[in-house]
Formats: sequence, structure tokens, C-alpha cells
Amino acid sequence: MRMQVHGCFFVIFFAAVLSPQAQTSEASPPPMGWNSWNHFACRVTAADVRDAANAIASNGMKETGYIYVNVDDCWQGGRDEKGRIEPNKNFGDMKALADYIHSKGLKFGIYSSPGPETCAGFTGSYQHEEQDAQTYAEWGVDYLKYDWCSASQVYPVSQIREVYKKMDDALRKTGRPIVFSLCEYGWDLVWKWGKDVGGNMWRTTGDIQDKYDSMATIGFGQAGLEAFAGPGHWNDPDMLEIGNGGMRHEEYITHMTLWCLLAAPLLAGNDLTKMTPEDQAILLNKEAIAVDQDPKGVQGRRLSAEGPLEVWAKPLADGSVAVGLFSRTNAYPVKVSFKDLGFTGSVHVRDLWAHKDLGSFENEFTAHVPRHGAVMIRVSK
Ligand code: GLA
Repeated sequence: MRMQVHGCFFVIFFAAVLSPQAQTSEASPPPMGWNSWNHFACRVTAADVRDAANAIASNGMKETGYIYVNVDDCWQGGRDEKGRIEPNKNFGDMKALADYIHSKGLKFGIYSSPGPETCAGFTGSYQHEEQDAQTYAEWGVDYLKYDWCSASQVYPVSQIREVYKKMDDALRKTGRPIVFSLCEYGWDLVWKWGKDVGGNMWRTTGDIQDKYDSMATIGFGQAGLEAFAGPGHWNDPDMLEIGNGGMRHEEYITHMTLWCLLAAPLLAGNDLTKMTPEDQAILLNKEAIAVDQDPKGVQGRRLSAEGPLEVWAKPLADGSVAVGLFSRTNAYPVKVSFKDLGFTGSVHVRDLWAHKDLGSFENEFTAHVPRHGAVMIRVSK
């Protein structure tokens, strides 16, 4: 960019210095919203996406921070004679869909692949990167999930960084701030370079399933990746399964507790038009979400693991620390020592699921954690 022409040089140079990453400013705290894949998979239609937007705008999710309404795979049709991507008959007019979502005060996300085909076999962006980025910008897209899928057929994995950078360049060229979500399942230690290729978030693992073992393996498996996350660039342990019915209430509490401590992007993946009050209370727990979205922007880390009992902690901007106490097997007492959190003397403890101040404690706190469950507290001086 800077090598272009004299007159433009300073303008471009200073614009670049003042706003180094248009996308990043859009994704300072971990992005929050909804994505169609976990519930609808390839059955998704534009009507489902509008229903999701309506639900978010009316059930309190929007006010709680869920802003992105994201279509995952299966919206694509073919390309017209000029090579421009077209939606399939389940979607019709993408600009109209974007306008509708924007009219609700929400943002619109879309999905593609650097390969010729997406994971579900729909048209990918291979050799159409700039054109697709331009089309997305014209439609009013605010977020792109870019999923490796069939790219292995046309690129060696050693080129993975260049391939993602190519789309980042194309998105920047549009001038529209578009959150860039890398999805390549954690290959090639993406957390080490995802930010350098313009990623605002990157999947660190394979696909989550709506089962405790899958969720727990992914969530607890994030230990050690905390150094790579920060404002505008986050590790992504995949989307939420809360409300999809495959886990028990305590297991979904564990899911939300872990994701919030991990400062993970929070993309609900359920049918928002059919939520039970219990699932809604989990997804809309403002005290948990405040931990996820905390302006200090630190990903929590594992403090201890004693067999199936784990304690995780996330330092927050006001000097308090959010703590998760987990049992990965049966119901057990789980203990945290305040000195491990950097506190001496007596501290104040608040239960973020019970929404209750528990009072003052000295030295340590012990929670009675149900099977596969979690207790989340906020500890402050
Ligand atoms: C991959 C991704 C999923 C989802 C599907 C869609 O498996 O990891 O999150 O996007 O593709 O086909």
C-alpha cells in the first residue's frame, strides 16, 4: 500500500498508522452473536436467519451483547457469467437479508472457504477472493468465517498463512470493517500467526459436538493458549451448543463458564425461537458475559488440576478475579486458595450463577460442584 503514489503516500501512511486494523476495531472484545451451523446445519434458510435476528432483537440477547447474526455453510449457489457468487434458492437476496438484520440494529456474518468448495460442497472463494470480498461488502457483510475445507486440494498446508492473508487483503481493500474469523481447526499452531494474517479469531480445534465429552475436551484443552489471545484477536474453541439438547443443565453451565473464562467468542448455536427458560438464563447470564467481555482482555488460565477437579482463573479490569471450579466426573468439593489468585487477607466472593454475594472469606473457598458441573465466582478485595 505504502509503495503506491506520492500524493497518496502520506494519507495512506497516516491512515494505516492511525487505524492499523480496520477489522480489529470491530472485534475488540470477543465477538458475540449467533451462527446457524450447530442447530440448522445445511437445512438453514433466510427465514431461519431472520427468525434468529428477530429473537435476538426481542429476547434481551441484543442488549446483552449478542450482535452478529451469522449464516454458516450452505447459503451459496453458483457464479454468474461474470464470476459473481450467487446465493441458492434457500436464500435469495443476500442484500435484503443484510438490510433486514441491520434494521434490527444487528450485524450480518457470512461463511466461505479458500478452497473451490466449502466443507458441505457449496461454492468456495478459490480464485475469486477479491471479487467475493467486494460482493460481501456490497451486500453489507460485517463478519466472514473462512473455513479451510477443500483448500487442501489446491494448496499445500505449508501455504496456509498466505492463503488466509490473501482474503484479509481482499477484505481490507473493500474499506468495510469485516471481522475475519479463521477456521482451520488449529492446524499449524494457528494461534502463533492468526493475528499476523489479520485474524480477529481463529478456531483452535476440530468441530464441537453437543456432548459433554466433546465440549469438555475442547474447553479444558485450551490450557496454555492464553498467551496468544488479546483484544481484537481471540482463540476460538468453537461455537456454543447451549440449548441444542445434547447436554444436561449442569453441563451447559460448564460450557458457558469455561467459554467466558476463556474469553472465547460467544456464538449461540441453538434455535433461538425455541429456548427453554433454563437455556435462556445460561446464554443471558450478564455476570458471566461480563467476565467474557471484560476490557482487560485476558484469556483465563488453568490454576490447578487434581485428577478430574480443575480450577481456572481470569483476571479482570477492576482488580477482581473470575474463578471457575469444575468437576469433570462426579460431584465433589473443589477448593481455590486465594493466594493462588494473588490475594492475601480476607476477600469478598460473589457467585455468578446464583447471582448472590456469599460474603467474606479468608485463605480459601470451597464449592460443592455437581457432576460435570461448574461453580463460577468473582473474588475481590
Ligand atoms: C466445518 C467447520 C464447522 C462448519 C462446517 C460447515 O466443519 O469447522 O464449524 O462451519 O464446516 O460445513
